[in-house]
Amino acid sequence: MIKDSLNLGIVGATGLVGRAFLKVLEEKSLPIEEIELFATKKSAGTILTYKNIQLEVQDIEKADFDKYDVLLFSAGKEASLKYVPIAVKSGCLVIDNGSFWRMHPEVPLIVPEVNFQDSLNHKGIIANPNCSTIQLVVALKPIYEKFGLRKVEVSTYQAISGAGQKGIDKLFQEIETGRTIETLSKHPIAFNINFHKISGKYNYSEEEIKIINETKKILHNTDLKVSATCVRIPVVFGHCESVSLITEKPFELDEIENVLISAPGITLYDDPEIENYPTPKIVEGHDNVFVGRLRKSLTDENGLLMWVVADNIRKGAASNAIQILAKLWYQAREHIFNFKKLFE
Ligand SMILES: NC(=O)c1ccc[n+]([C@@H]2O[C@H](COP(=O)([O-])OP(=O)(O)OC[C@H]3O[C@@H](n4cnc5c(N)ncnc54)[C@H](OP(=O)(O)O)[C@@H]3O)[C@@H](O)[C@H]2O)c1
Repeated sequence: MIKDSLNLGIVGATGLVGRAFLKVLEEKSLPIEEIELFATKKSAGTILTYKNIQLEVQDIEKADFDKYDVLLFSAGKEASLKYVPIAVKSGCLVIDNGSFWRMHPEVPLIVPEVNFQDSLNHKGIIANPNCSTIQLVVALKPIYEKFGLRKVEVSTYQAISGAGQKGIDKLFQEIETGRTIETLSKHPIAFNINFHKISGKYNYSEEEIKIINETKKILHNTDLKVSATCVRIPVVFGHCESVSLITEKPFELDEIENVLISAPGITLYDDPEIENYPTPKIVEGHDNVFVGRLRKSLTDENGLLMWVVADNIRKGAASNAIQILAKLWYQAREHIFNFKKLFE
């Protein structure tokens, strides 16, 4: 049955992304009949507000997934592993922010401006990519389409909110006390730079591997050469990326500017003479990906350098997920209600 309104659940509602879901939903015109919020038992009873209505957060263990058309998940890897299959079996479409399902071959990994079509083959789960991947592929896609890509190298400068509320708490406690708070890393983040957890014999962090693999999956090109170095910086919101790429075909800088200006979801903000270039503070609260510092490489004639910045909680997480839902609702509603399930 195709309905004309949605019953929606948010899992991880008390988190940074969960709260952003409520804010972004308030701004959109999706017809929501009912909305219910979930987190762990610890946060059950917390009151959050949606359109001036007070909603009580419930313990996920007590959720009856049969009630919802769509569940927006943002509760980490373990919760996704445990609850997403149960929700899909109950007939819910899950849009998941966690990393667990992203590389599953039967789970589409979606950025609406880049590969929305892939979402139409979902089997109950649509994955939202890693925040750093989302802004990278939005900026790469129009260049890739017009000039091809031989190689992409990205270095991230990621806001500490990428590590959730505990990341922000660490930063502010360290600034206030002058001591190192040993959550997330043994190193301070205040007035410092940290790496993400590095594991595995190749000395890459999981974050770096996610960007590499997810970019190839979203752009449908497993042969694309991508490398990444990721760090966290003491900025609260807004991830920055220094991107160096080599195209297949030659280009002039104004041609790159033109494809970026015409592409969906991008704001070209590049007038460095008057100090107009994207910074975390400039993008905070926006859903577009901001691109600036466009330069031709001095070492490769098909080389381009650019600076890509986006709000990691909005475009990097909540807004991207809700844009997927909105696009399905307005362009392919049947895919919200009728689908072959990955788990029966
Ligand atoms: N922050 C970002 O920039 C960003 C970007 C993209 C994707 N993500 C992903 O989004 C997810 C949440 O991130 P966040 O920044 O919102 O983290 P956060 O601020 O730490 O919030 C985590 C949320 O998940 C809930 N939760 C944790 N374990 C749970 C479980 N077993 N069952 C149900 N709920 C559980 C927490 O509930 P309690 O209050 O009960 O603990 C809280 O609501 C993560 O998977 C993260 O990787 C984050």
